[in-house]
Parts: sequence; structure tokens; C-alpha cells
Amino acid sequence: MIKALRGMKDIEDPRFLKIFDTTREIAENYGYSYIETPILEETSLFKRSVGESSDIVNKEMYQFTDKGGNDVCLRPEGTAGVVRSFIENKHDRQQSAKRVWYFGPMFRYERPQKGRLREFHQFGIESFGEASVYEDINVITMAADIFDALGIDYTLKINSLGCGECMPKYRKKLVGFLNTHKESLCEDCQRRITQNPIRTLDCKNENCQALLKDAPKITDNLCEECSKDFETLKKGLENLDISYEVDKNLVRGLDYYTKTTFEFISTEIGAQSAIAGGGRYDRLVEFLDGRPTPGVGFAIGVERIIELVKTNDKRKGIYIGVMLENALEFAQKKAKNLRNNEKVYFEPKVKSLKAHLKAADKGNYKKAMIIGEEELKNKTFFEKEM
Ligand code: HAM
Repeated sequence: MIKALRGMKDIEDPRFLKIFDTTREIAENYGYSYIETPILEETSLFKRSVGESSDIVNKEMYQFTDKGGNDVCLRPEGTAGVVRSFIENKHDRQQSAKRVWYFGPMFRYERPQKGRLREFHQFGIESFGEASVYEDINVITMAADIFDALGIDYTLKINSLGCGECMPKYRKKLVGFLNTHKESLCEDCQRRITQNPIRTLDCKNENCQALLKDAPKITDNLCEECSKDFETLKKGLENLDISYEVDKNLVRGLDYYTKTTFEFISTEIGAQSAIAGGGRYDRLVEFLDGRPTPGVGFAIGVERIIELVKTNDKRKGIYIGVMLENALEFAQKKAKNLRNNEKVYFEPKVKSLKAHLKAADKGNYKKAMIIGEEELKNKTFFEKEM
């Protein structure tokens, strides 16, 4: 028997579509338009944006050479492709803001476990051209609105990674600290000192965690502008009654972030607790050869929230059934006409009244319309509110 690949799943849960509908409606209410980018992109796009030293690019890419000899890979995330499209379609040359949302599969060759798949779906948004920190607040508010609409509890963690001015100075300070403790750090962190020192801050190794408690923190080393923006961000969230925690070690697994970073965490789903993540990436467009354009966005992991979605099991639609073969045509036509206004299920099997009512109940229909001999004569239905 052929089975689905490890870490890949069929999705039949109706809550998947509920997430799609809810995210779509809220994104469009915020003025975002839909974008669909290819699932396959040139490998260099992810190397240059997500970062060569990130786990995603280093270990987790579905990368191969296609029949034309091109080095391609299945997208591990959505931002890079959207930025590629933004530049390719010359939106970076216009002065106006552009805001898009997407929903689709992402691929990461990770070790499958609860909450960690090799093919998973993200709903995401990207906002281009607006440097104001109020845009960050707007973006975070949208994520909060989505979780509220789906009935999902969360903790919001925020941090700032600084800009091109303060981040390099901070990185130097951190490297100094790391070098004085090099021997006590895990192997990965020793490598990170030269490759990506910031990532040591969220190392899962207990030893490193204890040691890094005394490391200099980026939020204590922000330049004046970044520091002011971070304060405005906090005040702005408070103004909208969105609770948050400052997590000074929140650095995220992708290299393109500057300034605001954030994650939404759920305590109800086990170790893989991040249900959404995002932040600002003011240098990414330029880095991918576009004109300098600020950007900010986030993505929600659909499979991670699917079981947290509260469904309202309200009865919906009409069930139409026949008790004799002769009534099939009449009943099917009735179903077709009623379907103009609402959900109608037509059962093509002839059954007893009792069996039809049982099926209508099981299918969660709000009304059953059944036709027997007497009803067919009068061109009517036996109707029952379920
Ligand atoms: P990310 O944090 O890598 O960010 O992924 C966003 C969310 O995708 C995570 O919080 C998690 O819920 C879900 N996710 C990630 N990996 C897996 C997996 N293996 N299995 C199941 N779910 C997973 C990004 O991808 C950025 N592109 C977000 C962004 C958009 N930043 C700015 N704009």
C-alpha cells in the first residue's frame, strides 16, 4: 500500500476551511489583497533571504536540481517569494504601500513530531512601504483579531532586534561575551559565534540558557529611534488592550528581521507552541536587489491551531430524501431549486422515513424534507425541523 510521505498529511477537517474563511475575511477587512506565488522557487532566493546560517536553509530545505539543471526548492516559508514577486513586478518603484495575504503549503524537512510537519500550511500577510511602528501594531492586532475570532487563547511575546545602526554594535558586544565563555557553550553555539551569534540567545541547551542569562540584551542596546519605536509599540498594544510579554531572547529562526519581532504562543498544544511568528524586515527588499522598502508581516501555522478552533455545531441546511423510486426526479428537482438559496443535500437512495430522519440528524441538517407516496400525489413533502 502506498502511504503519504512522513510528516505529510491529508486534511479533511472542516476547521481548515473555517480558518481559511476567517483569515481571508479579516485580512480583507484590514485592506489586504490576495497573492499566490509559486511553491517552487530558485534555491538562492531562500539562501539570500532566510539566511545561509539558519536551520531552515542549512538543514531543512527540499532542494533539488530540475530537468533543466536549475537549483530549485519547495518554499519553506512565504515571505521570500512574496518579496521576490514584489520586486519582480516593480512595486518597489512605486511610492505607495502594498499589502498582501496568502494561504498555502510550506515545506521543511524537519524531524516530524506533534506540531511539526514536513508539509504544513501558513496563512500569512506582508505589508510593504510603511516604516511607521503603528503599522507593526496594526499587523499584530490583525493576528490577535484572528485568534479571537477563532476562539484561540494565546500569549503574545515581543522583542526588538534593532536596526542597521544598533544591531551591529550589539552583535559585537555579544560576540565579546560569547568568546569569554566559549568553552562552556554547546557545539552549535560555538559555531554560531562566527556564523550567527544572535541565534545563541534562543539555544535550547540548558547550559547555554543559564550562561546566556548574563549576556548583554539587545533591548538594552537599542539606538534612540529603535528604543522610541519599541516604547511606542508597547504603548500602542496597551492602548488596544492586547496583552504582551517582552521576551529579550526572542530572535526568530529567520535572518531577515530588523526592529519588531513577535510570536504568538499557545500553552495548549505541547512543545511546538508557536502558533504565529513575524516581524519587521526593513532591509530585505534591498537585500534581494529591490529599491529600499520597509516591510512587516507574520504567518500563522494552520495545523498548529486547527485543534484549538472552536466550532459552533449549529444545524445547517436541508436534507431531502425519498421513500419510493418514483419520487426521485421530483425530489431532485426540488433540491436543485432550493439550492439557489441554501445548502441542500439530496439523498439518492430510497429509504424508510425513520432511516432518512436518522441520516438528517447525523448530518447535522436543520430540516428534513421527505417524500412518500401520499406526498408525491399532492406534490408536497413531509417536513421536520431537526
Ligand atoms: P516561522 O516562525 O518560521 O515564520 O513560521 C510561522 C509559523 O508557521 C510558526 O509559528 C508555526 O506555527 C508554523 N510552522 C513552522 N514550521 C512548522 C512545521 N514544521 N510544522 C507545522 N507548523 C510549522 C515564517 O515562516 C515567516 N515567513 C513569518 C513572517 C511573515 N515574517 C514576516 N512575514
